[in-house]
Amino acid sequence: MNLGRKTKQMLTKQLARARRRIAQLERLLVEGKRCELEAHEAREYAESILATVWEPLVVLDKHLRVISASRSFYTTFKVSSEETAGKLLYELGNRQWDIPELRQLLENILAENTTLDDYEVEHDFPNIGRKIMLLNARRIWEGAEEPQRILLAIKDVTEQKRLEEELRRAHKMEAVGQLAGGLAHDFNNMLTAILGYSELLLELLPAGDPARDAAEQISQAGHSAAALTRKLLVLGRRQVLRPEVLVLNDVLTPMEKILRRAVGERIELEMTLEPQLAAVEVDRSLMEQVVMNLVLNARDAMPDGGKLTIETANVSLDREFAKRHPAFEPGRYVLLAVTDTGMGMDRETQSRIFEPFFTTKRAGKGTGLGLSTVYSTIGQSGGHVYVSSELGVGTRFEIYLPALGEKAQRKVHWETAVSTATPAETNMVESPEGTAKEKLQVEAPHRKRLAEPQTILVVDDDVSVRKLAATMLRSDGYQVLEASGGREALSMCEKHQGKIALSLTDVIMQDMGGRELAHQLSALTPEMKILYMSGYAIAEKGELEPGMPFLRKPFSKEALLSKVREVLEVSVE
Ligand SMILES: Nc1ncnc2c1ncn2[C@@H]1O[C@H](COP(=O)(O)OP(=O)(O)OP(=O)(O)O)[C@@H](O)[C@H]1O
Ligand SMILES: [Mg+2]
Repeated sequence: MNLGRKTKQMLTKQLARARRRIAQLERLLVEGKRCELEAHEAREYAESILATVWEPLVVLDKHLRVISASRSFYTTFKVSSEETAGKLLYELGNRQWDIPELRQLLENILAENTTLDDYEVEHDFPNIGRKIMLLNARRIWEGAEEPQRILLAIKDVTEQKRLEEELRRAHKMEAVGQLAGGLAHDFNNMLTAILGYSELLLELLPAGDPARDAAEQISQAGHSAAALTRKLLVLGRRQVLRPEVLVLNDVLTPMEKILRRAVGERIELEMTLEPQLAAVEVDRSLMEQVVMNLVLNARDAMPDGGKLTIETANVSLDREFAKRHPAFEPGRYVLLAVTDTGMGMDRETQSRIFEPFFTTKRAGKGTGLGLSTVYSTIGQSGGHVYVSSELGVGTRFEIYLPALGEKAQRKVHWETAVSTATPAETNMVESPEGTAKEKLQVEAPHRKRLAEPQTILVVDDDVSVRKLAATMLRSDGYQVLEASGGREALSMCEKHQGKIALSLTDVIMQDMGGRELAHQLSALTPEMKILYMSGYAIAEKGELEPGMPFLRKPFSKEALLSKVREVLEVSVE
């Protein structure tokens, strides 16, 4: 009985212990489940982060093997998750991540617990081309049993960098433009005097006079300086633009002869022009400069000869293209491409060619303004310039100009017809060396002058320009009155007995602007014609409207006289 009770007691104890144990086990089981659940949740959490972020993320093990990656990693680098899992990062997709210094830096992260903070890599990724990537990386999951890992975040900043570069370039152009604008006024007055007086001197000196050579040298240097000033004005977009509707082939074909002469015999020149080319709206003489700049560069890149191809084509750029090239609006463009088989350029050179004053040519050979003026001109016309080049193989420049729709073409044709009632002044295409002798001149047609001597009022506060214009006009039989500013011009006009046929007036003067003077003069003598002259940034300052008779400083005697005749004849008709 006793034993029975003892046994009972023992069994009860054992039962209680067993229950406690079961309870304990149950608790452990619940705990384990919770842990498992938490681990599962953590995994899901991490995976949802990887799936959600749009920047490529990748987790690497201590050997730099890919453990997992975000979806955008696969899409950005054009690799599949199957070919990625367990692969070494630097072996992935045509070894596109095989960048030795980066490998070293990633290894340091594990070894020395360093981090990568906005580390910039510019690299040719075989699958996706040249890109600039910003990398951030650090060590993660450092639990005792957990192997160490690296979380690497990648950001493609190629487009952002390109925009920054564009902005930087625009600022630089703006600065150069301001400098040019400031310089051009005074500089062009001086150049007008230098070129004009050397021209008069050459007229006075008989053939064979030893002083002629000196006068010619002065004139040549003056022309080079004028070309440089003009480039600066174009560059700073301070140039007076005269856009017209034209087909690029009609710019290129007449240039063929001068281009052939410029490149020389060792270079084969081929022109492949699209016969049905769409029209564009550009400034013809600036476009000629663009072509000349590209051709001369190509020539210089082929000192031992080669082939130069100039081609035009109609191209249609779709939405997809525009997405990849945000500078482009989708639509129809006219392509002008200049391709050479020359020395080509390395990346460093290519990234700098559009900078003003960047040149690899020896001093005195290049100013480094050619391509920056091309860039500026094309940008101003709503177009784009692209370059592709390979060292030792050659270079191709592509210019895209928006093609005009038929409706626009008709409209602009009409506007051009109205605004060019007074045709443009002498058009000059710069020669290879930019010297006076080699200019291709497309002169305004010569017209017979009226028999009756006419009176012209010359108004300029720069005495040398005023005297020069007066001398040139007198030499052609005009009677000339000279005024050193607006007020003097008005009082001369009041006092003068006879008729003053035309006033040649500077646009920007100390006491009164040219426009204001013209306004007051026309109140006094409504029939008087006005011809403006300036070396300044007229379009920019809104001083003149399109179609107003205008003579650009510096001017030659021929340019002055033909412009004066032209304006006077409009009054006679
Ligand atoms: N077709 C080309 N092939 C190789 N390099 C080129 C080519 N075009 C331009 N370059 C490079 O770009 C640089 C800048 O060209 P850019 O036309 O602006 O100036 P430049 O030719 O040196 O001087 P400038 O045109 O003012 O006389 C050149 O010095 C040259 O290094
Ligand atoms: Mg050049």
